[in-house]
Amino acid sequence: MRGIDPGMLPIERESNGISIRKYQPGDSAAIVEAVQESVATVGTWLDWCSNGYGRSDADAWIAHATAQWDEAGMFAFAVVDATSSDYLGGVGLNQIDQDNRSANLGYWVRQSYESRGVGTQAARLAVGYAFELLKLSRIEIVCAAMNRPSRRVAEKTGARFEGLQSGRLSVHGQALDAAVYTITAPAARRQV
Ligand SMILES: CC(C)(COP(=O)(O)OP(=O)(O)OC[C@H]1O[C@@H](n2cnc3c(N)ncnc32)[C@H](O)[C@@H]1OP(=O)(O)O)[C@@H](O)C(=O)NCCC(=O)NCCS
Repeated sequence: MRGIDPGMLPIERESNGISIRKYQPGDSAAIVEAVQESVATVGTWLDWCSNGYGRSDADAWIAHATAQWDEAGMFAFAVVDATSSDYLGGVGLNQIDQDNRSANLGYWVRQSYESRGVGTQAARLAVGYAFELLKLSRIEIVCAAMNRPSRRVAEKTGARFEGLQSGRLSVHGQALDAAVYTITAPAARRQV
């Protein structure tokens, strides 16, 4: 990204017992375990979360996420317990539009940790990272209209509902209507 040196950015942010940090090569086994336990939940909405997900997929993801971070093309974070370092899921700023200083925000939380506030806290940390460190001004969250937990995370992160878009998402080969939310920098600063 113009004006930002990825090498100068902190690789971790922590608050309220949750940490988001840059992926590391040693994360593979934990990612596979988290994905495998979450096929019935996360896999409902994210195609890549399937029974076939294995070590090579996790290795490829870490390599991709690391390369993208180093080019400031995407900032993908592992979500971990700040005390135990247990791997809880992922949150990421992708589709970074360098000219308009905007990005898309995505998140997932492993099944055994859902409904404990992890998703909301991870999203808040990523939004803070985007506005305070990357100096982005607009974040978009696009989730299936039927995906109530994801919509609640968006709302609890201070996002404004901008409307429904027909067939915006393809999930397991099906076109789904999406709820589109946005967060602009001043509103987000109040939430983080
Ligand atoms: C969306 C997701 C990240 C939420 O993570 P989480 O850690 O469970 O979220 P939180 O604990 O912060 O809870 C957020 C809201 O979702 C609700 N929620 C969480 N799990 C739920 C479930 N299984 N059923 C119904 N509501 C649920 C919580 O009650 C809370 O809403 P409330 O404040 O009205 O009570 C998680 O459900 C997930 O990984 N989903 C699959 C991937 C996905 O859809 N990603 C979003 C793509 S844009």
